[in-house]
Amino acid sequence: MKIKNIACIGAGFVGGPTMAVIALKCPEIKVTVLDSNESKINSWNGNLDKLPVYEPGLSEIIAKVRNKNLFFSTDIKNTINNSEMIFMAVNTPTKDKGLGKGYAADLSNIEKCAKEIGKYSNSDKIVIEKSTLPVKTAEKVKQILNQSNKKNHFEVLSNPEFLAEGTAINDLFKSDRVIIGGDNSDTGKVAIAKLKEIYQRWIPINKILLTNVWSSELSKLVSNAMLAQRISSINSISSICEKTGADILEIANAVGMDKRIGPEFLKPSIGFGGSCFKKDILNLVYIARTYDLNEVADYWESVILINNYQTNRVSDKIKEFLNGELNKNTISILGWAFKKNTNDSRESASIQIASNSLISGGSINIFDPMVSKDKIYDDINRALVKNKIFKPKADKLISKVKIYNNKYDAVIESNLSVFCTEWDEFKNMDWIRIFQNMKEPKTIIDGRNILNKEELSEIGFKIYSIGQV
Ligand code: NAD
Ligand code: UGA
Repeated sequence: MKIKNIACIGAGFVGGPTMAVIALKCPEIKVTVLDSNESKINSWNGNLDKLPVYEPGLSEIIAKVRNKNLFFSTDIKNTINNSEMIFMAVNTPTKDKGLGKGYAADLSNIEKCAKEIGKYSNSDKIVIEKSTLPVKTAEKVKQILNQSNKKNHFEVLSNPEFLAEGTAINDLFKSDRVIIGGDNSDTGKVAIAKLKEIYQRWIPINKILLTNVWSSELSKLVSNAMLAQRISSINSISSICEKTGADILEIANAVGMDKRIGPEFLKPSIGFGGSCFKKDILNLVYIARTYDLNEVADYWESVILINNYQTNRVSDKIKEFLNGELNKNTISILGWAFKKNTNDSRESASIQIASNSLISGGSINIFDPMVSKDKIYDDINRALVKNKIFKPKADKLISKVKIYNNKYDAVIESNLSVFCTEWDEFKNMDWIRIFQNMKEPKTIIDGRNILNKEELSEIGFKIYSIGQV
């Protein structure tokens, strides 16, 4: 079976960029990205400036391959039937009800994909888990496929994605590694070879790791857990720095120079955000508890506890700086996305900081270069509901939120400014002039260590930078 048609179910932050790169690198293969969300598919087919996912370099690739060998469609039935290889890149959020609520991954989207693949397939298929899944999910996927289709053979591979948002295209072009997990059977080996052939076109062969399915599924969770653990480690030390006068940036530099530790992922922050770190660690904690490994579960859960602690420390600092009188003050929040170069705000620490401030009585000015106003309002609404604040009180709080199109006005019309996201456009600006025009007490919280604290304190601004006295 030669691979001529690839389908990907899920046109999100993973499905869109990943398939764009596969289409670019495999011009003779027709790649179709599917989604049940029609308006998302319309946006992928629409204006290049308004694609559903913002990623540097993505729109240029889409411009080259869209409607040549890359297609976006809602026609799940025919596309599945016509494809030899099908990726599942649907979202797998934390369960909000049922067994494992608050910890386990919700696999309903994956189960639905497997049912649809089974139902619409009239030939054998290679089915690939691209979504991040608990170890042993492939067993369940196989079971569903075989139950819903007794005529065809389905080979299930695990091929987790390691791209980070904001650098997705570069990560896909130059992956540190690609993992393909598959069965050691004859059909398994053939399927692995077919997928390997695709990646081999641009990924050096020594970076393509072939493993068993369970190692592949679990490697993904462990990679995210270990990355997040580094951030919680450095953030926990930032508290000690603030008590002792040690400087967290000097510590991170000193520690990271040890080549056994390395310099990456040691940037102190207001806490990690994003759709995956928290959900994947919760999933790992759930898996450990299922096997009665409670010490292991507690260890990983503490990574999340430190992350919440770090974000709440920033909220406490806001209260401290404003003498608890948030009701008399306006707080500007610079950056709503969970990191720079993305329009994704899922689990962004900005949401927690903004809703904590609103609940404590403050007014909020928000600026972000990429996240839409609707998304920001929606995030705040959801955060208030999570805090059990409903209409009409929620509406009253939301009326104290202003979303700005420019960062200067957002800051000038506030008493306290919090730098939440490290967008390049926030760096190397003449902030002194802007801060001078702020309302009293002209206070700054640098949650990303992008400002010159010493210089700003010397000229009289009240400034808090993570992990620095
Ligand atoms: P996303 O929410 O951006 O996209 C998922 C898409 O799947 C949505 O558009 C949704 O409408 C669609 N979908 C869900 N069920 C469907 C179904 N049955 N049929 C058709 N469409 C369906 O999610 P994402 O950020 O792309 O993440 C997808 C998976 O990849 C998750 O498991 C995540 O953990 C993993 N992952 C994400 C990233 C990242 O940076 N976002 C990186 C690596 C891995
Ligand atoms: C992360 C991983 O880096 C990817 O390898 C993985 O594929 C992805 O999760 C996923 O599975 O979804 P992502 O969340 O997109 O990628 O972005 P990161 O660069 O990892 O940043 C996550 C959060 O940690 C951001 O809020 C970022 O600001 C924060 N961070 C990162 C720090 O606070 N300090 C650091 O040193 C690094």
